[in-house]
Amino acid sequence: MPRLYLETYGCQMNVADSELITGALGRHGYETTHDPGQADVLLVNTCAIRDNAEQRVLGRMGELKRHKRPGTVLGVVGCMAQRLGPRLLERVPQVDLVIGPDGYRGLAELIARARAGERAADVALRGWEHYEDVPAERAAGPSAFVTVQRGCDYRCTYCIVPTTRGPERSRRLGDVVREVAALASAGTTEVTLLGQTVNSYHDGVHDFADLLRAVGTVSGVRRVRFTSPHPNDFSTRVLAAMAETPTVCEHVHLPVQSGSSAVLKRMLRRYDRGAYLGVVAALRRAVPGIALTTDIIVGFPGETDRDFADTLSLVEAVGFDDAYTFRYSPREGTPSLRLRDAVPDDVARDRLERLIAAVRRVARRINVGLVGSSHEVLVEGRARRGGLLQGRTRSNKVTVFEGPEEWIGTYRRVRLTGTTGSTFTAWPLTRELAVVG
Ligand code: SAH
Ligand code: SF4
Ligand code: F3S
Repeated sequence: MPRLYLETYGCQMNVADSELITGALGRHGYETTHDPGQADVLLVNTCAIRDNAEQRVLGRMGELKRHKRPGTVLGVVGCMAQRLGPRLLERVPQVDLVIGPDGYRGLAELIARARAGERAADVALRGWEHYEDVPAERAAGPSAFVTVQRGCDYRCTYCIVPTTRGPERSRRLGDVVREVAALASAGTTEVTLLGQTVNSYHDGVHDFADLLRAVGTVSGVRRVRFTSPHPNDFSTRVLAAMAETPTVCEHVHLPVQSGSSAVLKRMLRRYDRGAYLGVVAALRRAVPGIALTTDIIVGFPGETDRDFADTLSLVEAVGFDDAYTFRYSPREGTPSLRLRDAVPDDVARDRLERLIAAVRRVARRINVGLVGSSHEVLVEGRARRGGLLQGRTRSNKVTVFEGPEEWIGTYRRVRLTGTTGSTFTAWPLTRELAVVG
């Protein structure tokens, strides 16, 4: 059997795509290996969101090419493959094939051609592609990602994703529910629905509210999560579905990007500071106690000290549980390249540092306030240190506690006993919680 070595970078969508790739090649007799030296096919599933993501992959390619023996195929897939296409073949002579996110159906065939000595790139965008008939091969465990939407129709001026992933399209609700039901009957209890603006999901008949209710009531499913929603797509129907579906977890990742309305306008985010705060308030009314995390970019062209102060004050005003923070990275072909008043590197670096400190301070305050409360956790495995178990609350807080190996994959109640500021220590309250349904 030919052996596949696959490395994945980027977002959860890429993790899910790698499961598709593994499944697609599995049908052609491939088995996976974790040792690149043993592989017949080496694939890197890449991300193009920021320049440093691409630099990391290029560095890694330099190492992986050492594992090429005669007949071994080295391929680049994913968003960076889509963005650079045939240019990647020129840039890295050891690369045999380049395939974008809509081309995985043809992967086995391109590999065969590469074996015969042909170097090829397939970066066609296929607006119909959902890989409906390709079975994803997932790691065993209670949690699964399920892609419900591909592509993006927003045009945020900094963002490469519309270029690398093409137009937005949604899977049919019935197909999603069938996949979730099959996962649940095989033991999955936590499902994360994926899409670039997942709450704009619409299959022509059903919207995201319908999808949440349908997936949330599949027998055996105890937790439903989704990522990433766009603030503009929280309709009253979606809010009601969240409020009325007990399996939908009390956590939303709600990318804000900036706290300044002027910057948001240049980013073409299609909401201003006030509208974002309105969405936060609506989410809190619908789901009391909901945890909110976000993405923030600093150093976007034209960002002034005042704009940045608005971002800092938004972090305080919302009280984010956590945030991913980035320095603006200019992406070739995106509209933001034409904006003037670039922010100098040292200024952006300084803002990033101050933002990270603010995020930590706010998160710590929230988390200290949670110590003493009790929560359901899904036990995910062993913690990295100390022989403890690690689990996650419905609000997505990571907790570590003592317990036997058999608890892994089950739901337990714990009381939070302390916090490092971001993660928690906890005390298990003994009884096992049954899976509903
Ligand atoms: N579809 C998601 C975001 C996907 S990209 C959404 O709209 O919410 C993940 C995050 O990367 C974004 O939220 C943004 O904060 C960041 N990002 C995207 N493009 C970037 C760029 N050019 N420079 C810096 N950060 C960027
Ligand atoms: Fe990029 Fe904006 Fe689409 Fe998110 S919504 S993927 S940030 S263009
Ligand atoms: Fe990166 Fe593509 Fe995801 S650019 S963030 S892997 S959609």
